[in-house]
Amino acid sequence: MTSKNRKILVTSALPYANGPIHLGHLLEYIQTDIWVRFQKMRGHETYYVCADDAHGTPIMLKAQQLEITPEAMIEQVRAEHMADFADFHIEFDNYHSTHSEENRVFAEEIYNRLNAKGHIKTRTISQLFDPEKQMFLPDRFVKGTCPKCKSEDQNGDNCDNCGETYSPTDLINPVSVVSGATPVLKDSEHYFFDLPAFEQMLKDWTRSGSLQEEMANKLAEWFDSGLKQWDISRDAPYFGFEIPNAPDKFFYVWLDAPIGYMGSFKNLCDKRGINFDEFWQKDSTAELYHFIGKDIIYFHSLFWPAMLSGADFRQPTSVYAHGFVTVNGRKMSKSKGTFIKGRTYLDHLNPEFLRYYFAAKLTSRIDDLDLNLEDFAQRVNSDLVGKVVNIASRCASFISKKYDGMLSSNIDDQALADEVMNAGDSIADLYEKREFGRAMREIMALADKVNEYIAVKEPWQLIKEDGKQQEVQDICSLGINLFRILMIYLKPVLPELAGKTAAFLNDELIWEGHKTLLVGHKVNKFKALLQRVEMDKVNAMLDDSKDNLTATVDTAVQPTTGPLITDPIADEISFDDFAKVDLRIAKIIVAEHVEKANKLLRIEVDLGGETRQIFAGIKSAYQPEDLIGKLTVVVANLAPRKMRFGMSEGMIIAAGPGGKDIFILNPDEGAVPGQRVM
Ligand code: 2FM
Ligand code: ZN
Repeated sequence: MTSKNRKILVTSALPYANGPIHLGHLLEYIQTDIWVRFQKMRGHETYYVCADDAHGTPIMLKAQQLEITPEAMIEQVRAEHMADFADFHIEFDNYHSTHSEENRVFAEEIYNRLNAKGHIKTRTISQLFDPEKQMFLPDRFVKGTCPKCKSEDQNGDNCDNCGETYSPTDLINPVSVVSGATPVLKDSEHYFFDLPAFEQMLKDWTRSGSLQEEMANKLAEWFDSGLKQWDISRDAPYFGFEIPNAPDKFFYVWLDAPIGYMGSFKNLCDKRGINFDEFWQKDSTAELYHFIGKDIIYFHSLFWPAMLSGADFRQPTSVYAHGFVTVNGRKMSKSKGTFIKGRTYLDHLNPEFLRYYFAAKLTSRIDDLDLNLEDFAQRVNSDLVGKVVNIASRCASFISKKYDGMLSSNIDDQALADEVMNAGDSIADLYEKREFGRAMREIMALADKVNEYIAVKEPWQLIKEDGKQQEVQDICSLGINLFRILMIYLKPVLPELAGKTAAFLNDELIWEGHKTLLVGHKVNKFKALLQRVEMDKVNAMLDDSKDNLTATVDTAVQPTTGPLITDPIADEISFDDFAKVDLRIAKIIVAEHVEKANKLLRIEVDLGGETRQIFAGIKSAYQPEDLIGKLTVVVANLAPRKMRFGMSEGMIIAAGPGGKDIFILNPDEGAVPGQRVM
């Protein structure tokens, strides 16, 4: 997919209109937004649409509980969602609602076309009914005693105590969560979509598309176990669209939810004069991508392509699923304060920190992503503040104070400039493949090289020497130019920082700009671009998350979970996890005994301009004086740890059986302090 002038339509899953946006949701919107911004920067005609998913029983009941109409509630929630997204710099071309006229038209049209071709079947089924509320009860609205372990107050579909899954009719002493009444069994005619008729079509689609490997495997399993007809109707009372010619029967929320992608896009087309059919007709050459969480693959890779095919529309080019978010290695938890709402995060922290952290950890696979809050602070501070912005801060004050903001016309190190400029294609390739973590690592490796260049040149020393003024201008100009190119590469992830950079540089940071340098160009006065993440603020966010939950998330009327973790923590770590370890060459400049410590030496290392204190348990094997001047390898991005004797700001890599045999890694003499080992 490298051709020019691509037409691309992108969606993220539609959040339910009865709860707040939380960090689990944001992984998906941030991932999609980065990809879309990248495509737009590359000049492709790209549209990103989304909407609130506004129908269904939980939404109807929540509105009743709040004593407002569902229409009023979904409008209010939609406004909150839009504000949250805007503040995280998620830039939709359109944000609509599934409760819209466009969506009703498409839902009816698709249903009518499927029906005309014989793909809709009816049959009578028996379900639990609340005689007081006069409504059928979805599984999660029935509670009772588990038929297996006899534990009380269990959900209608599975038992929290023993893990058994069952049907709500199997529960002992079932009660309606809505009214407390004992439900009764009642018959009703339901409408079904004939999914099995689409098996061959779905197999062909699986093979023709660029589906993720894990998704293709999942589909193969589903084909093996046999496709089943899908119940697409619900009886009144229900908040949704009535099925044509079927009084008191409504489309199940999941029928019109994906159709909401079309509804939102149609709404955009009408506003902007875009040709809708060009994107959705059967033989469309435009690309269509749905970004989703792994919990809703079934809907997007089976029902949705089959519905589209049966109704003579095009199929998605691909469906990209991501994993769930954990916080500090565990499922988000209300009591631990790790169920963090987007708004609570925004009250304390810069949205671009989260965008960068997610980007740095995202792959194209369906792996879960852990937001480890110490690592988050450390990574953002080390990469964005310590590496990227540091380049500008080191160079800009000289340029503005000594050279009136003029960048030099000389290029001090053409080889380094070429290296940074030439990385554009491979970084673009990684963005395109949604390998954002690898893209971020490549960008940070370049930032390391630029910092190394500045550290070696020491313009702050040269400026004191006579006759070195031109050299200082050349060095700092190259530093600023390379900072500019790194910010072009980072612009899809950090649009706000890129905006500030553009204002400083008088340059728009377009993608193609990575192939050029600004020579003889005037820049503006430099203002601080980014503040460090402070753990105090992270902790305040966690405290707030503990406080504000009960008011917003009502589990009784919010049976769906959204993209939160349910899997146990794996023991293995992936290669990507391993690659997070930032190993650096360090020179030991101080080594001394620590009073009252049996095993520890206090060591100071030089990491190429930065001095760190590390307490290392190697006293039994080394005399401090023997270590001074030696090179070793340290883990440079280990979060600082408060020890009894002081702060330890890294770890010296050592191996061996212990006692007198602990061997610290001892690199070649040619190694340079601060140099990255991998
Ligand atoms: O799982 C959910 O949160 C759904 N509201 C997602 C719908 S995505 C699309 F199909 F509309
Ligand atoms: Zn049980």
